[in-house]
Amino acid sequence: MNKNPVVPFFLIFALGIGLVFFMSLYGLDQKKEIAGANEEGTEQTTEESANTGEFDAEAVAQQKCISCHGDGLAGGMGPALNSSLDAKEAHDAIKDGVAGTAMPAGLVPDENIDEMVDYILSLD
Ligand code: HEC
Repeated sequence: MNKNPVVPFFLIFALGIGLVFFMSLYGLDQKKEIAGANEEGTEQTTEESANTGEFDAEAVAQQKCISCHGDGLAGGMGPALNSSLDAKEAHDAIKDGVAGTAMPAGLVPDENIDEMVDYILSLD
């Protein structure tokens, strides 16, 4: 029989197809693993945020106050927030805002205002 010179090419072709097939199966497996890991990750974060039902004054300040009161609440467009403030005035300002100024009301839930005031008064 004549040796067909094309046969080796077919062999390589078949090998290549096999490899692609194998790799896609392997990839699917990895995809499942990654998806699984992600699910675990989300579960963890939801658990964490559920566990910390506590109010984190510093974190809230970072999110909602530094845009006006500056980095570290040291003053910006709004005044510096620190221990020089009067607790009651600070409480009122946070609860009701300061009429006629940019200071908005209602950024901190009522039940957490005391904690926010404590935090502010703990600053230098
Ligand atoms: C949109 C800008 C803005 C944001 C956001 C903002 N403030 Fe203010 N805040 C002001 C301004 C302006 C004043 C000054 C009001 C005035 O002239 O009496 C002020 C005043 C205050 C005062 C009273 C200070 C004093 O001298 O008696 C407190 C306390 C205060 N802010 C706390 C906060 C806290 C806590 C947050 C975040 C939850 C916050 N502010 C977010 C603009 C802002």
